[in-house]
Amino acid sequence: MTATPKLIRGNLIWNKEKTALTTCERGWIYIESGVIRAILSPEEGETIAQRGVAVEDYGERILIPGLVDLHVHAPQYAFRGTGMDLELLDWLEAYTFPEESRYDDSDYGERAYTQFADGLKNSPTTRACIFATIHVPATLRLMELLEERGLGAYVGKVSMDRDCPDSLRETEGISALRDWLTRWKESPLVCPILTPRFVPSCTEELLEGLGTLQREFRLPVQSHLSENPAEVELVKALCPEAETYGHAYARHGLFGGEGCPTIMAHCVYSSPKEIELLEKNQVFVAHCPQSNANLASGIAPVREYLRRGIPVGLGTDVAAGHSLSMFRAVTDAIQVSKLRWRLVDPKLPPLSFPEALWLATRGGGAFFGQVGLLAPGFDCDLLVLDDHDLPAPRKLSLEERLERLFYLGGDQTVFAKYVRGRRVK
Ligand code: GUN
Ligand code: FE
Repeated sequence: MTATPKLIRGNLIWNKEKTALTTCERGWIYIESGVIRAILSPEEGETIAQRGVAVEDYGERILIPGLVDLHVHAPQYAFRGTGMDLELLDWLEAYTFPEESRYDDSDYGERAYTQFADGLKNSPTTRACIFATIHVPATLRLMELLEERGLGAYVGKVSMDRDCPDSLRETEGISALRDWLTRWKESPLVCPILTPRFVPSCTEELLEGLGTLQREFRLPVQSHLSENPAEVELVKALCPEAETYGHAYARHGLFGGEGCPTIMAHCVYSSPKEIELLEKNQVFVAHCPQSNANLASGIAPVREYLRRGIPVGLGTDVAAGHSLSMFRAVTDAIQVSKLRWRLVDPKLPPLSFPEALWLATRGGGAFFGQVGLLAPGFDCDLLVLDDHDLPAPRKLSLEERLERLFYLGGDQTVFAKYVRGRRVK
């Protein structure tokens, strides 16, 4: 990252508001030290460019904030697109745990995580919250691979110690986490996050240890919550004294609130009491529509969460979600919200394209701080999108071009990508 100011030019689109897109045709982004200082009109930008500030001009291409994947499993990238015939608990046992066991082998981890990191670099994702496995060396290597590619990420060494194969059972308690944390050097863009897999995989002692570590290091937390009916019943049986599944994390101090930023993936079956706690503690919900369809989990009431002011972002949840592309997370979120509205609850209107784009940018970006908007003071995380391969017989508006890019475009439409002002693709 350089402190030298720079101008980036193109057709700008972003969500000044949650429900509407703002456009600036042939606008300019003025950046310094990786941070946006100003959004300038064509005329204002010309004046500054004439003073000799460096210019990167992307012509008629579209520039939007980078997309944030709030929930993805790096080791599962290896089996994405297969094993879609089971529900959550059987799927974990049949496909996920056997694959994650392989990351004990550092050579395997190197190959698989290089493919994942390259896949993420080529995708529209600029920042991601990532589950690794329990293995410390492979997790550290994953963090390095992401850092080398300039991507922004929270990465979690997974914590789990029950109801799993021996090869995935944490036997050292939280001392393995201390080892991981001390071996990771400080990094501006890649940071550790505490990652209990989910309540059924964690003993009370492990959760208690994680809570202690959270308070000691003030680390953020990510996990899974109320994804599947059988899982919710299992948690009730395992923790009869917890008022809800969410309370089973909260009693160990692992569920949001002051000094404990937390992401919970799914929240498809959150009860009114659990929703109250999500709201009170401002826990981020990672909505993962493709995963919830593939594992027949259900459809989360995202509209309800937004109405209550619960922070919400989108996740691919690879490999329960088969695609690493956040374009798909956006369009899938819209599609499943329509099915929910039609088939489940006509009182919760479906998501619009601007709303879904907001979820994928500012919604998830808020977990990373000043991320997800084209506005002064925000990190310059940017996608440069090229739709010349998507011909149209008439001139389309910028909004139409962008919507089409999400529905029809793949990684090849990501012409360039910036994270905190540095070009990474
Ligand atoms: N719950 C616990 N582990 C997992 C996982 O790996 N994927 C999903 N979708 N849900 C989980
Ligand atoms: Fe997941």
